Amino acid sequence: MVRIPFLDLPPLTAASGSVALPGSKSISNRVLLLAGLAAGTTVVHDLLDSDDTRVMLEALRTLGCGLQTEGRTLHVTGLGGRLQVHEARLFLGNAGTAMRPLAAALAVLAATQGGDFQLSGVARMHERPIGDLVDALRPLGCAVDDLGQPGYPPLRLRGTAGGRLRTAQPIRVRGDVSSQFLTALLLALPLVSADGPVVIEVDGELISKPYIEITLNLLARFGIAVQRDGWQRFTIPAGSQYATPGHVHVEGDASSASYFVAMGAIAAHGGAPVHISGVGSDSIQGDIRFVDAAEAMGALVRRGPGWLEVRRGRWPLRGITIDANHIPDAAMTLAVMALYADSPTRITGIASWRVKETDRITAMATELRKLGAAVVDGPDFIEVRPPAAWQAAAVHTYDDHRMAMCLSLAAFNPLCATAPGNVPVRILDPGCVAKTFPDYFEALFGLVQADPAQVPVITIDGPTASGKGTLAAAVAEALGYVLLDSGALYRATGLAAQWDGVAPDDEAGVARLAGMLDLRFGHGPEGSRAWLRGHEVSEQLRQESAGLLASRVSALPAVRQALQGLQLAFRRAPGLVADGRDMGTVVFPDAPLKVFLTASAATRAERRYKQLISKGIPANIDSLRADLEARDLRDTSRAVAPLKPAEDALLLDNSHLGIEASVQQVLAWWAQRRPFQA
Ligand code: DC
Repeated sequence: MVRIPFLDLPPLTAASGSVALPGSKSISNRVLLLAGLAAGTTVVHDLLDSDDTRVMLEALRTLGCGLQTEGRTLHVTGLGGRLQVHEARLFLGNAGTAMRPLAAALAVLAATQGGDFQLSGVARMHERPIGDLVDALRPLGCAVDDLGQPGYPPLRLRGTAGGRLRTAQPIRVRGDVSSQFLTALLLALPLVSADGPVVIEVDGELISKPYIEITLNLLARFGIAVQRDGWQRFTIPAGSQYATPGHVHVEGDASSASYFVAMGAIAAHGGAPVHISGVGSDSIQGDIRFVDAAEAMGALVRRGPGWLEVRRGRWPLRGITIDANHIPDAAMTLAVMALYADSPTRITGIASWRVKETDRITAMATELRKLGAAVVDGPDFIEVRPPAAWQAAAVHTYDDHRMAMCLSLAAFNPLCATAPGNVPVRILDPGCVAKTFPDYFEALFGLVQADPAQVPVITIDGPTASGKGTLAAAVAEALGYVLLDSGALYRATGLAAQWDGVAPDDEAGVARLAGMLDLRFGHGPEGSRAWLRGHEVSEQLRQESAGLLASRVSALPAVRQALQGLQLAFRRAPGLVADGRDMGTVVFPDAPLKVFLTASAATRAERRYKQLISKGIPANIDSLRADLEARDLRDTSRAVAPLKPAEDALLLDNSHLGIEASVQQVLAWWAQRRPFQA
């Protein structure tokens, strides 16, 4: 998805169907680092492709690891514990799972093999603490410089070859701010365990223990059998060495699963469940235990290895009180499920929310209040009561993927049993989901249903060559909406008639073909593409001859009738931009914004002329203009659905307007029709 400023979700009424989860972020970045440090080649299957894994891959590439993509697998050839590059600056975005372990590994490698590395990230990364890790590394003999505020990235890690680390004493690390500090040490210290065991002792109560279990599990797969005494003491045996397991499969992300589990619990009420593939009963991720909490709230869940199936059980949901220390990320989803409960939900043990991508306690409380919920928050807890009246809110996402994904669930507000809503939800900066789940909203739209009357439509009608196709496509892209180029349906119908030898004035014959039109649309780098009966017809449909044929078949009432259902089916969440001749007058008469685009015949002929010439197609401006005027006449004077502005259409004469200015005008009109405050 292109990075758009906001995405409006219409009120949603149901969810069902299947979703395949992207790979786990926590597993992906750990596996990448382990494979990058180990000797030999590791083949990684189903790796997550997202912002956070991309910065890790970039770092490994800079450090000299071999990375090769083959189909859906990545082949990582590791360093075998030996630095190849001794000086580098690594930019790690906002990926805690890259910053912390790389800082530890490079500190250890620089201190023993010589090196000079600088690690930095986005501004928020420089507000996320790393001091506890640095405090553990310095007594070991690692030279770590704070390049900004002490205790926060950016960091510089230095050392000279031949240095030795003080590993004879236990290494102490705090475990009560982030478990990633312990994970970082566990991943880095096998690099220096050749001569003796390395012991790590945790100060304070260790939080997020399940993430440590993932670390230990993956270390074991790479040949390091860490001995664990309770959650206080971890020993890396002497002589431990990374060994690639050959192949590693990355399971789906359990935190990402939480949104679909919630969707099932809230909205799978019609019999069919939400089926989730990628994680299940055999998951090694701690967030899988979110499922238990969702069940406690009312979800009906079936599970097996690699899959979950969820439907609505108790309704309304039941509010719960839960210490969510063990599921910090997925617990955010509980705060949004709380909107659909008949009693308050209190989530405790979540102080770590304050040092994540954003201060998640404040962010969640602020945004849930905008929706109408009553929220109380404290240093390490949040309590949510469902709205008494839902408000159409433009919710901030704080460059936090989980805020965006969680808050999308508020769009099911019509289902709320205690106080049903009927409001759209505006998600600001929806592209932030790229951190872990770039296709989240596409997956959401693949599962949900909305009352068509609640799905907004913008119609853009106008004469041939007025630029409405370009305008409609740009508006649809800016809003993240579905696009309907209705002219293409008439063009394809004309083409189908030609293929089958049906005369363009054989009304019944052409209408029959229109009724069974097997037309599919897709996207390519060159723009939209189309396939008729499995054959690509993108170019053919754009030709003048196809337009002329379309103009003839579109005058037949039975043909227009036959294409009606197909056009209505484009009205899907999150919304539709439809261009044609009668979108505002006949097909979507209830559209909340109708635009009628005009431009003088001279301007339109000139545009079409330039378009053809630029494609190397010979053209004559006078005959083009004559053709346009003849088509205008036929389109405006035909008996059915003649081309004319709807009574409530806004006229836009773009004879002297560039495409960008036209798009801005339509978006400004659209903004006036939306219920959100600026
Ligand atoms: O927009 P276009 O040039 O692709 O349209 C081709 C022909 O199809 C045009 O001459 C009129 C007809 N048409 C129509 O009658 N109703 C529509 N909604 C769209 C196109």
